[in-house]
Amino acid sequence: MILVTGGAGYIGSHCVLRLLRDGKDVVVFDSLELGHQEIIDRLSKLDRPGKLIAFRKGDLKEPEDIEAVFSEFDIDAVVHFAAYSQVAESMRDPQKYYYNNVYGTLNLLKAMMSADVKRIVFSSTAATYGEPEYVPIDEGHPQKPINPYGNTKLMVERIMDDYDRAYGLRSVRLRYFNVVGADPAGNVGEWHEPETHLVPNVLKSKLGDGKEFSLFGTDYPTRDGTCVRDYIDIEDLIEAHMLALDYLMKGGATDYFNLGTNDGSTVREVFSVCEDVVGSKIPLRECARRPGDPATLVADNAKAKRVLGWAPKKTLKDSVTTAWAWERSRQD
Ligand code: UFG
Repeated sequence: MILVTGGAGYIGSHCVLRLLRDGKDVVVFDSLELGHQEIIDRLSKLDRPGKLIAFRKGDLKEPEDIEAVFSEFDIDAVVHFAAYSQVAESMRDPQKYYYNNVYGTLNLLKAMMSADVKRIVFSSTAATYGEPEYVPIDEGHPQKPINPYGNTKLMVERIMDDYDRAYGLRSVRLRYFNVVGADPAGNVGEWHEPETHLVPNVLKSKLGDGKEFSLFGTDYPTRDGTCVRDYIDIEDLIEAHMLALDYLMKGGATDYFNLGTNDGSTVREVFSVCEDVVGSKIPLRECARRPGDPATLVADNAKAKRVLGWAPKKTLKDSVTTAWAWERSRQD
């Protein structure tokens, strides 16, 4: 049995879907503060090889909630997504982030240690690197976060190292770059409220109330003046989680990997792929820079390829196509 925390959220729900398709038994733990009951309902109704999707609503900040899951189920490994992830919000309210992302994870790890569960795949982030000193960013790049969100993820990485040394907890930390796309079959997709991410915001401008898409910053030192990011498809990203689980099951040691494509796209390039996919013009307004956005973030993914045998396959157009299908289905 695999425990997925945050399994009702964007990335977590795609992980649950894949585990079920692979015939694994899954228990989902989610507070539903940001995750959605509807996602759980959709996952529960799937015609799937996996025997079970048990859902337990709970909050990692309440130790007894997560301890109960370990008492009830025989867990082999944990995939830990549950966290707050908005950079700007973390600047306004750091306590919320430290309390949830760090203290919540401490409760999870304590419950794991008590139940003698010692394998975990953790969703970390490129935000742990901070302002890039060079690109592409490899795993040896200094980790100097520039916001509380990145700090919380780096703290958890450090905690996991100490738990490995002291208690033999083996962890794989996956440092995501920019995740895009949805399940091609349309079962789950990206659903944040409020939505801050580029691709869903562009697509919503197409669907929505005629509201223009706001492009933040056109004076960056990049090829067209807009920020460069490394967009990784959700299915490729989840594939890396499956490989990481296998790696831990086979006795692999604690390690950490970038998940990106080695390739960057500017905001204008992403916008133009979106127009191409939707087949018409999307209203755009050029705005001032959004505070805290580095000009360029691109992953060096050689280590994940070498150690996990991972290789992203999808193009940005593939991801925008599935994201678009998902947005339209939500509107319907
Ligand atoms: N952007 C816009 N308009 C929008 C939304 C985004 O122009 O409405 C631009 C941003 O300014 C940025 C790019 O599109 O240049 C990508 O922005 P996202 O918000 O989609 O993604 P970020 O790169 O800001 O954030 C991602 C993850 C975070 C993580 C961060 C690490 O989503 O969780 O990378 O730096 F913390």
